[in-house]
Amino acid sequence: MKTFQCGLLSVYIGAVLAAQPNIVLFITDDQDVTLGGMKPLVKTLKNIANEGASMMNAFTSTPICCPSRASILTGLYQKHHQVLNNSIEGGCSSRNWQLGLEKSTFAVALKKANYSTFYAGKYMNKYGQKSVGGPEHVPPGWDSWVGLVGNSRYYNYSLSINGTAKKYTTEYLTNVLSAFAEEFLDYQRPENSPFLMVLAPPAPHAPFTPEPKYVGKFKDKRVPREPHFNTANNSDKHWLVRMKPVPLPNETVELLDDYYAMRWETLLSVDDLVETVVNKLRRSELLENTYIMFTSDNGFHLGQYSMPWDKRQPYEFDVRVPFLIKGPNISKKSMSTNPILLIDIHATILQMAGVQPMSTDGRSILPIEPTGNRTFYLEYRGEGSEKYDPSCPWRDNHLSLCSSKACCKCQDSTNNTYSCVRSVIDEVEDFVFCRFEDDEAFVEAYDMIKDPYQLVNLYPGLDPAKRKHFSVLLDSWMPVED
Ligand SMILES: *[C@@H]1O[C@H](CO)[C@@H](O)[C@H](O)[C@H]1NC(C)=O
Ligand SMILES: *[C@@H]1O[C@H](CO)[C@@H](O)[C@H](O)[C@H]1NC(C)=O
Ligand SMILES: *[C@@H]1O[C@H](CO)[C@@H](O)[C@H](O)[C@H]1NC(C)=O
Ligand SMILES: *[C@@H]1O[C@H](CO)[C@@H](O)[C@H](O)[C@H]1NC(C)=O
Ligand SMILES: *[C@@H]1O[C@H](CO)[C@@H](O)[C@H](O)[C@H]1NC(C)=O
Ligand SMILES: *[C@@H]1O[C@H](CO)[C@@H](O)[C@H](O)[C@H]1NC(C)=O
Ligand SMILES: *[C@@H]1O[C@H](CO)[C@@H](O)[C@H](O)[C@H]1NC(C)=O
Repeated sequence: MKTFQCGLLSVYIGAVLAAQPNIVLFITDDQDVTLGGMKPLVKTLKNIANEGASMMNAFTSTPICCPSRASILTGLYQKHHQVLNNSIEGGCSSRNWQLGLEKSTFAVALKKANYSTFYAGKYMNKYGQKSVGGPEHVPPGWDSWVGLVGNSRYYNYSLSINGTAKKYTTEYLTNVLSAFAEEFLDYQRPENSPFLMVLAPPAPHAPFTPEPKYVGKFKDKRVPREPHFNTANNSDKHWLVRMKPVPLPNETVELLDDYYAMRWETLLSVDDLVETVVNKLRRSELLENTYIMFTSDNGFHLGQYSMPWDKRQPYEFDVRVPFLIKGPNISKKSMSTNPILLIDIHATILQMAGVQPMSTDGRSILPIEPTGNRTFYLEYRGEGSEKYDPSCPWRDNHLSLCSSKACCKCQDSTNNTYSCVRSVIDEVEDFVFCRFEDDEAFVEAYDMIKDPYQLVNLYPGLDPAKRKHFSVLLDSWMPVED
């Protein structure tokens, strides 16, 4: 991998400025980057990537929606924010969250610095539930609030508009968010106080429903048949990946191809949303002084290692996310291989705004100069479920997401719980070491430079000194048990 840096970057001085910049952050839902998830976003690539930087090594530290969104909002690893899964008991939009860390999101910090703040779209999966304050609860720091009640959907949902619920049945959510964004931008002027805008559309999350005008646009697209697609021998991986059938039968593969195409189609509406926002900023003469970031909460897989469709695994397709950034002093068409994490967004936004940094687990990604080594942590708590697909044989609440459409192959389980340490030393070494909390205390280790598709788990043959080294390194990142 090569780093492309242009001269301009080195003159970046950051810090406090006379005219504080505006900040726009797009957060898509479950958008992979490794399977081609950015390809349909032609206008986004033109307006953000070509006008700024593509961060080629961006990761989530927890590949599941609610914990990852908590990491974005707070700059903390899951082990520190304790939003452990997508349920209220797991901390997702829970009372504890509301009474605690929700008060130290980047929005609160920017509000204190007189930013005008706006949020529209999916927030945390359990936002708006009655037991946690309902849609009347407006998270602190936001002047204008359009929060999706519950998890991503495309039709038939409720939005909390400044604390008042409004039901929408037939309006496509991405487009509704676009209209709210335009309305917010109507009031922004270069001479006014700066603004922060977060737009979180549902795409390309399940049920992968495209806007009618885009249905069938990509009907011939298929999941790329890369070396890790529908592999026939997964015997070196943890038990959930080994679960039968391996490989998936043809009718499941056909379904995966359909989902792949539909996901791309849902992203066309996101592309329109981005274009609408960029055009509006340009017309209002706000574009030059606005940072725009585009990313996703986690990646996704469809058929890799014969797993059906989901996230929640420690592999590249689930932990890598798209990340584009444009703005003052970011060189056009640049690409950076700096390893960055979604927990860096908090510190980055504070730096952009010239606000006093807070103590978080992340660090600002600006200026985009080669940063060299980085070691980071990945963690996930597996989930079980009481819900069963009646056509599947499993009646075990330690398993979840077992669908007859995927031959009852389960996609998660309570012991799909893992911690990993990833050590990236310039471009010389990139090693990931993961330990599962399952019956086998299974370990997987990959040399990401030699084996980017993670086809060979090196752990069984790893020499004892290296085993020890990575094991000790991982322990040093793990939370201390109480
Ligand atoms: C961009 O760089 C110029 C020249 O070094 C500097 O004056 C300006 O403050 C920088 N702007 C930002 C937002 O960093
Ligand atoms: C979510 O996390 C909480 C707290 O650890 C746990 O009680 C709950 O069972 C988890 N939910 C699922 C579905 O695993
Ligand atoms: C925010 O605006 C208020 C009122 O205009 C002003 O008193 C205060 O100093 C400003 N705070 C900052 C951090 O700029
Ligand atoms: C929310 O309330 C603020 C303050 O009154 C207002 O400026 C904003 O337009 C409202 N947002 C929406 C979406 O109605
Ligand atoms: C819309 O959602 C409600 C529950 O929020 C449900 O009862 C209803 O069946 C849904 N309608 C459609 C058309 O999906
Ligand atoms: C599957 O791969 C493992 C090594 O990962 C190898 O030992 C085994 O022989 C392979 N099995 C088959 C049936 O090819
Ligand atoms: C499944 O698909 C593969 C690849 O397209 C093909 O070679 C094979 O014959 C198909 N199997 C069946 C049982 O249709």
